[in-house]
Formats: sequence, C-alpha cells, structure tokens
Amino acid sequence: MIWDNKNNDYIFVKKTQRIMTDKQISLVKNSWVDVVAHVSEAGQIFYENFFALAPETKSLFTGDSKEQQRKLIMAVTLIFTKINRIENIKDEIKYLSKKHKGYGVKANYFESFGKAFVKMVGSILTERKMWNAEMQEAWTAIYNAVAQAMVENMKEA
Ligand code: HEM
Repeated sequence: MIWDNKNNDYIFVKKTQRIMTDKQISLVKNSWVDVVAHVSEAGQIFYENFFALAPETKSLFTGDSKEQQRKLIMAVTLIFTKINRIENIKDEIKYLSKKHKGYGVKANYFESFGKAFVKMVGSILTERKMWNAEMQEAWTAIYNAVAQAMVENMKEA
C-alpha cells in the first residue's frame, strides 16, 4: 500500500506484500502501545473510516457498543504485536479465519479494512509525531501478511 498524494488516500499494491522485515516488526511492536493507549479514539476513527469505505459491512458488526468496538481494536492490534513470523500465529489465524467466515466476512472486505485500519493508526500516531513513511509501510506490511494468511485460511476452512 502506498500513499497517493494526488487523491490523498492509500492505495493497495495489487500483489499483497508478504515479506515483513525485522525492522518493520519492531516498528509496529514499538508503536502499538500508543494506539492502544488511545483506543476509544482509535475505535471511533476506525469504524468511521471503514464504514465510509464499506457501508455494506455495517450489519455484520452486531456488537456495536463503544465497549465492543474498543475490544475489537485491542484484539486486532494485539495480533499484530505477536508476529515474529506468520507461522508463529498459525493457530490464531486458523481460529480467526473460521470465526470471520461465520460472521459473513468476505475476502474482498480485507482491502477496505486494511485501508481504514492503517489510516486510523496514521491519525493516532501523527498526533504523537510518530508517523512517517517507514512507519506506514511497516503497519501495512504486517496487516497485509495477517490479512493474506486469513483469506487463504478462509478459502480452505
Ligand atoms: C487482518 C485482519 C483482521 C483481524 C486481525 C481481525 C481480528 C478480529 C478479532 C481478534 C476479532 C474478535 C474475535 C473474537 O470474538 O474472538 C474480530 C471480530 C470481528 N471482525 Fe475482524 N479482523 C480482521 C478483519 C476483518 C474484516 C476484513 C472484517 C470485515 C467486515 C471483520 C469483521 C469482524 C466482525 C464482524 C467481528 C465480530 C465483532 C462484532 O460483532 O462486533 N474483520 N476480528
């Protein structure tokens, strides 16, 4: 995913980036705490971003209380911090893929979800002067690796 200055938006590169560098992993691990510290704000920004991009997914989120939104952001963010190699979270990916299939999540929602998520992280970390191109690429790479593993598992499940 790259930042498109002209349209002021993120663009996903077609072929999902699978490789995460050690540097990218440590950038995410060192900044997730700042996202989680502002989790209410993060939740609000994420859902606004995501539903603007994919309004048809609103009905899938049955737990729409603020508390549940907060929990979801915590859970999603936590997964990214557990990554050293995608193989290390194989069981978690398997469990999540099955659950998401049950929620009615389709593979094509992952792109909007990723855009909304990285944009939200960008908003939070920009306020803390922690956001730059390297950080954006790091969060994108980690998101893409997890998303791709989930989509592959959902096909098999
Ligand atoms: C890398 C991508 C994603 C990760 C890591 C992720 C992670 C999670 C986690 C940890 C939960 C809580 C599961 C539990 O109850 O144990 C969850 C719930 C959920 N996720 Fe995802 N998710 C991702 C992508 C998506 C996408 C693309 C959608 C599309 C709409 C989605 C929709 C949902 C829904 C509807 C729930 C149930 C929560 C509710 O009803 O409020 N997720 N997700």
